[in-house]
Amino acid sequence: MRVCVIGQGYVGLTISTFAAKIHEVVGIDRNDEVVSQLNMGISHIEGVSSEKLKLLLHSGKYRASVEESALIGTDIVVIAVPTPLDSNRKPDLSYIDSACQMIAENLTTPALIINESTSFPGTIRNYIKPAIEKRQKKIIEHQYSISPERVDPGREDFNQKNTARLYAGLTPEATARTREFYSSFCDNLVEVSSPEVAEAAKLFENTFRQVNIALVNELAQISHALGIDVRETLNAAGTKPYGFMKFAPSAGVGGHCIPVDPSYLADVAEKAGVQATFIQRANEVNLDMPKYIAGRVEKDNGGSLKGKKVLVVGVAYKPNVADTRETPAALLITALENLGAIVSWNDPVVGSWHGNDSMALSGADIAVVVTKHDVVSEAEILKSAPYVFDTTGKVKGAVQL
Ligand SMILES: NC(=O)c1ccc[n+]([C@@H]2O[C@H](COP(=O)([O-])OP(=O)(O)OC[C@H]3O[C@@H](n4cnc5c(N)ncnc54)[C@H](O)[C@@H]3O)[C@@H](O)[C@H]2O)c1
Repeated sequence: MRVCVIGQGYVGLTISTFAAKIHEVVGIDRNDEVVSQLNMGISHIEGVSSEKLKLLLHSGKYRASVEESALIGTDIVVIAVPTPLDSNRKPDLSYIDSACQMIAENLTTPALIINESTSFPGTIRNYIKPAIEKRQKKIIEHQYSISPERVDPGREDFNQKNTARLYAGLTPEATARTREFYSSFCDNLVEVSSPEVAEAAKLFENTFRQVNIALVNELAQISHALGIDVRETLNAAGTKPYGFMKFAPSAGVGGHCIPVDPSYLADVAEKAGVQATFIQRANEVNLDMPKYIAGRVEKDNGGSLKGKKVLVVGVAYKPNVADTRETPAALLITALENLGAIVSWNDPVVGSWHGNDSMALSGADIAVVVTKHDVVSEAEILKSAPYVFDTTGKVKGAVQL
C-alpha cells in the first residue's frame, strides 16, 4: 500500500519506519530541516536509529517530504501531528486542522484516513471528517478510523510491534481496512466498538498516570511533614501482591502526554456537563510540585536563596531522552528564580535548550536533580554542589524529596 504519514516526530517517524518494512511510505513534515535530515538518514528521535533509517531509505520504501502533493494517489494517510494545550490549557487542534486542510486540498482519490494523534472522544467523527469534507472541492468519500498511539519514546521492551493497538473505524469498511494495515506490522490488535471508545481509552490511560503521580506527590509532601521516608513507604506498600500499583514521586509530570491528555478529557467532560474534579486537582498538585521543591530547598539553605547559585540537573522530562516538552524543570527554574536564586542547568542529553547550552556540572551552591540520565553519574552530581536535593530517588547521599 502507499502510505503517507503526516508529522515526522516521535510518533510519525516511529510508525513510518515500522510501516515501511511492508509498505511504501512517505513521511510528510512541514519542518524543512527535519525532512532534509531524515532524507540524509539522520534520525532526530530516540527509538529510531540512523542506521535503521538509512536502510529504509536505501530500500526505497521510505522517504521524507515537505511536499503536500506527496498525498496524491495515496491509499492510507496517518495523522501524527501535535495536539498540545493552548495558553488557557484547553485543547489546541490547530495542527490537526492544518493536516485536514492538506488532505482536503491534495488527496483526490478515496483513501483511509487514520488519526494517531491523541485527542478527545469524537475527534475523528465530529472534527477531522467534517474539517476535511468542508474543504474538498469535490466530494471524495474517504474512510476514517482511529488508532491512538501508545509509543513510549526511548523504551525498548515495548514498541509498535508488540504493544496492543486499539482501533475502530467510523464504518465497518474503515475498521476492516485499519485492521489490514496494522496487522501487517503489529502483533496485537484490539478492535473496539467505536472510535470514541479508542479515543477515550487513550486519554484515560494517561489520566490514570497523571492522577496517581499527583497522589504520590501529595504523599511525598505529607510524608516529609510527618518525618517518614516516602520511597520506603511506597516500597513497603508495593509488597502487597494485589490491589496496589507503585508510582514514584517527582518534580511533576512532563512530556507531550501526561500533563496534556487529561486536560483533553476534562474539557470534553465539562462540555458534556461533568466536572472532572480529580483531573483538575491532579493538575494543580503536579504543577505545584516545583514550587514546593523550591520552598524545601530554600528552607534547608538558611531560609533564603537570594544570590545563591543553583544548578538544575536534568531538564529533559524523563531519563535518557532529549525531550523537554512540558518539563517540570522549567517551572522549577522559575520558582527558584522567584526566590532570588541565580539558576543554571546541566543536561548533556538535551545539550541546548531555549537557545542556551548545558552548563558544567560543578561550581554551584545548590544542585536540584529533576532528571537523572544514565550518562550522568551519581558521584558527579554529588560533587557539583555542597547541597544536593534529589527529586528522583536515584542519587543516594542527596537530600531526598
Ligand atoms: N511523543 C509521545 O510519546 C506520544 C505518545 C503517544 C501519543 N502521542 C501523540 O502523538 C501526536 C504526535 O506527537 P509527537 O510526539 O510525535 O509530536 P512531535 O512534536 O514529536 O512531532 C510532530 C511533527 O509534526 C509536524 N507537523 C505539525 N503540523 C504539521 C502539518 N500540518 N503537516 C505536516 N507536519 C506537521 C511537526 O513539524 C513535527 O515534526 C500527539 O497527539 C501526541 O499527543 C505522542
